Amino acid sequence: MKALVFNKSNFDWETSRGFELVDIPEPVLDEKKNVDDANYVIMKVHYAGVCGSDKGIWTRTAFRGAILNSIDEESKNTVIASPSATESEAISSKEKIASSSAKGGLLAMTGKKAYRIIGHEFFGEIVKIGSRVKGLGVGDFVACESHVVCNKCYQCLHGQKEVCTNEKILGISVDGGFAEFAKVPAQVVWKTDTSKIRPEVAAMQEPFGNAVHAATKVDLKGKSVAIFGLGPIGMFLTIVAKGMGASSIIGVEPNPIAADMAKKLGIDYVIPLNNPFQPPLLQRGGDLGSPSFQKRGQGGVPYEHDQEVIDELKKITKGVGFDVTFEMAGFNSSVNNAIAAARRGGDVILFGLKNGQFVLDEDYNKLVMKGISLHAVAGRQIWKTWETTRRLMEDISTGVQEKLFNVILDRGNGTILPISEYTKERFEEMMQKHPKFLIQF
Ligand SMILES: NC(=O)c1ccc[n+]([C@@H]2O[C@H](COP(=O)([O-])OP(=O)(O)OC[C@H]3O[C@@H](n4cnc5c(N)ncnc54)[C@H](O)[C@@H]3O)[C@@H](O)[C@H]2O)c1
Ligand SMILES: [Zn+2]
Ligand SMILES: [Zn+2]
Repeated sequence: MKALVFNKSNFDWETSRGFELVDIPEPVLDEKKNVDDANYVIMKVHYAGVCGSDKGIWTRTAFRGAILNSIDEESKNTVIASPSATESEAISSKEKIASSSAKGGLLAMTGKKAYRIIGHEFFGEIVKIGSRVKGLGVGDFVACESHVVCNKCYQCLHGQKEVCTNEKILGISVDGGFAEFAKVPAQVVWKTDTSKIRPEVAAMQEPFGNAVHAATKVDLKGKSVAIFGLGPIGMFLTIVAKGMGASSIIGVEPNPIAADMAKKLGIDYVIPLNNPFQPPLLQRGGDLGSPSFQKRGQGGVPYEHDQEVIDELKKITKGVGFDVTFEMAGFNSSVNNAIAAARRGGDVILFGLKNGQFVLDEDYNKLVMKGISLHAVAGRQIWKTWETTRRLMEDISTGVQEKLFNVILDRGNGTILPISEYTKERFEEMMQKHPKFLIQF
């Protein structure tokens, strides 16, 4: 089958970029060889969404450790054979030595598995099912919760599975869904009614759920809201916050394409970041975390808040500040902006991600005496957030589906990439042009 992978035996993390299109054996369920397969399903993937985290893997600026270490760990136990091998050969040819060729997109590999199938936002149909799986059947249309939780740790046992101690993430620490078929534990599978949610939208349930989780951290009814970062999840949040009754929503975003889209989604106003927008994907090293991309004002210290932006935001709130601010970009300066823009006693929701230490630039005494509450949001609450997401998507009167398909996916105009047309250049171009796009398998 065709899949997009990071293949450690072909590419060095530090010097490479992008995903490799390969031809690898389809996943199998073989309960005789692996009893745990009884708890798995195999999906035929229809659509998979590309998100900020995937861009981080593409540019090698995120998830290095999680991907490389998990590949090493997995390769101790998993052996694969060449694409022409039979299913049982594929998992039993233990002694074979790795040899791979990415030429022409065919990954002819034997020996130890050295790749990770990328992708954690996907939707498709169950085609095979393990004997111990309950409540699901072949032919069911499903999306996946990307966090594979242990169900045993303290948090899992106390209603906080989203912060499981032992979680694994599809497409990062275990194989994901940028492939024609995906083998996933049945516990992550979420049944979707395709008569109510169109498949392209169904493929966005996972990231939309991120926004639903963030928006339900505090009550937004009647609140003034500022969103820092209008990437796909910041845009989803705009839709949800409006639906939850926020009285006003102001965005801060450097990319004019994203700002325009957020306006079509009903955001009240977007403050552009004045530093020239440098598409971070254009050049290697010019990644999302590069100081040149973050730097603005304040003598050019990359982590500091942006006083001009804060002044403008304060003016909008008549000097009070916002009831709730959301950091949806994952930059140190943006975190400081979100803190500085919150009113005394307000709430700051931290959602964006970036590896490394962050600096808080406000006087600590003042920060504490401001009495703000900082909330960190990880993933989605399982399954509470998914139930809310389903309700918002299935109910046509919310306009959620329409906004997701007509505005964010531009009715599919240039936002859906058939896997047969994949090239690195085309993928790169789509990442530049579209805040959100889907791969069709
Ligand atoms: N907490 C979680 O569970 C979780 C889950 C998924 C993604 N994330 C993270 O959430 C963030 C948003 O995800 P996404 O897929 O929308 O990402 P994205 O990278 O596509 O979008 C980020 C947006 O922020 C904008 N931006 C860049 N610098 C900015 C700045 N200084 N101030 C304001 N905006 C700025 C970018 O132009 C872009 O539109 C990412 O950091 C992602 O890694 C967190
Ligand atoms: Zn994602
Ligand atoms: Zn757990």
